[in-house]
Amino acid sequence: MTIHVHEQVHRPRVSDQGFDARTPKVRIYLMGKEYQVPNVLTIMAAIEYAGYRLVRGCGCRAGFCGACSTIYRKTDDYKLYSALACQTLVEEGMYLVQIPFVPAVKSLYDMEEITLTDNVILRYYPEIARCVSCNTCTRSCPQGIRVMDYIQASLRGNIARAAHLSFDCIQCGLCSSRCPADIKHYHVGQLVRRVYETRIAPKSPHLARRIEELDSGVYDEEMNRLMTSSLSELKQRYESRKIEPVSED
Ligand code: SF4
Ligand code: SF4
Ligand code: FES
Repeated sequence: MTIHVHEQVHRPRVSDQGFDARTPKVRIYLMGKEYQVPNVLTIMAAIEYAGYRLVRGCGCRAGFCGACSTIYRKTDDYKLYSALACQTLVEEGMYLVQIPFVPAVKSLYDMEEITLTDNVILRYYPEIARCVSCNTCTRSCPQGIRVMDYIQASLRGNIARAAHLSFDCIQCGLCSSRCPADIKHYHVGQLVRRVYETRIAPKSPHLARRIEELDSGVYDEEMNRLMTSSLSELKQRYESRKIEPVSED
């Protein structure tokens, strides 16, 4: 997160629960200032416990949005560590500071014009050829994704494998913050999955049928009703919705 700071306020909003005055504390440093925080807090909650209000670098708080990517050091340890602040517990002697965002240079492309005649990924992201196989990207990934392997698969033009390997990417950018070849892995992975879904993966008959229904206006009346419903009506409908049973197939 790079702690995108945040003014210090005196009404801490702590999302994590389950601690009281007897909970052991650990020492962490925020921009060089020492704080004692309960050892059961995530980095994100500990920053709030210390009295900061997060105004950037904070989204879903559940490990899905990738907004809280964080780099830190530990006492007497030369390594740089990376993590999602909402998913990682504080540790004794953690040093957290504000760092600039990772510039996400994204190539522009028109999916309608993309063909599979040559290595399309290499065409839009030629820097993947500079990969030196250091594996730093894989070691940085909080999702446990084999990032180097999907970059290498992209380089070889194996789009299906690259799409499969990168499927759980949440676009946090931690891999790109450490890459010596300046590769923007998550943009590569996004293009790979777009190409795979639109050009290679078998078409879903269910999806085609649903699109036909949408085009023919089957849902127009229901959609209009939703658009003109009050908030309380929408909440009531949400509470009483029928949830489809999980398929056994
Ligand atoms: S960090 Fe960059 S150079 Fe190193 S393995 Fe990953 S993609 Fe290759
Ligand atoms: S592949 Fe990179 S951007 Fe995606 S989740 Fe892993 S570290 Fe984050
Ligand atoms: S806040 Fe969304 S992944 Fe941490």
